[in-house]
Amino acid sequence: GGLVVAMDGPSGSGKSSVSRGVARALGLRYLDTGAMYRAMTWWVLQQGVDLADPAAIAARCGEPRIVSGTDPDGPAIHVDGVDVGGPIREAEVTGAVSAVAAVPEVRVRLVALQREIIGAGDIVVEGRDIGSVVCPDAAVKVYLTASPEARAQRRSAELAGTTVEAQQQAMARRDTLDSTRKTDPLSMAAGAVELDTTALTLEEVIAEVLRLVKE
Ligand code: ADP
Ligand code: CDP
Repeated sequence: GGLVVAMDGPSGSGKSSVSRGVARALGLRYLDTGAMYRAMTWWVLQQGVDLADPAAIAARCGEPRIVSGTDPDGPAIHVDGVDVGGPIREAEVTGAVSAVAAVPEVRVRLVALQREIIGAGDIVVEGRDIGSVVCPDAAVKVYLTASPEARAQRRSAELAGTTVEAQQQAMARRDTLDSTRKTDPLSMAAGAVELDTTALTLEEVIAEVLRLVKE
C-alpha cells in the first residue's frame, strides 16, 4: 500500500487543520472520515429514522450513496448527489452523529468505503479509529489532544452564536459517547505518537507531524 498518515483524537484537537496542512505540504490526498459519519447522520435525520432505534439505522444505512473527495484545499462531500458540506456542520447533525456512529453496521459500511479510498494511494486520514481499526498498518500514527478548554475555545471561535461554556459541554458529551461506545471507541492506537497541542500553534503542530513522517 501507499503512505498513510493516521490522525486521531477528540473534537477540536486540531485533526482537520493539521491533516490538511500536512497533506498540502507533502502533496498528499486527505480524507475526513468524520464528514462521512456526519453525512450518514444528515441522511438518517432527513429520512426521519428514529435515532433511538439502532436496528432501524442499521437496516437502512446501506441506502445512501456517500461520496467523499480527497482534496485538502476543498474536501467535497455528497449524499446521493447532494452537496452536504454545509449542513453536516450544523448543530442538529453534530448532536446526533455519535448515536449514528455507534451503530456497528454503519461503521462496517463506512470503514469499507474509507479503505477503498485509502487504497488508491498516499493519503492523510483523520478520524477516531484510523490508527486502531481502519489502517492499523499506517506508517505514521498521530493522536492529537488538547485541554477541554482549548478545544472548546477553538471550536467556538469557528462557530457563530455559541459560547465557550456551551461548546465545552457539548464536546464533553460527544467525547464520552465516542470513547465509551462498544464498537471501535476513540482510543490511542498501538504505535501512535501523542501530541498535546494545547500550548502549540497550528504551524508548530504541522511541523512536528512532518518531522514524524520524514523520520
Ligand atoms: P478537529 O478536526 O480535531 O475537530 P479542527 O482542525 O477542526 O479540529 O479545529 C481546530 C481549530 O483550532 C482550527 O480552527 C485551528 O485553526 C485552531 N487551532 C489553534 N491552535 C491550534 C493548534 N495548536 N493545533 C491545531 N489547531 C489549532
Ligand atoms: O469535527 P469534529 O472533530 O468535532 O468531529 P468529526 O471528526 O467531524 O466527527 C464527528 C463524529 O463522527 C465523531 O464525534 C464520532 O462520533 C464520529 N466518528 C467516528 O466514529 N469515527 C471516525 N473515524 C470519525 C468520526
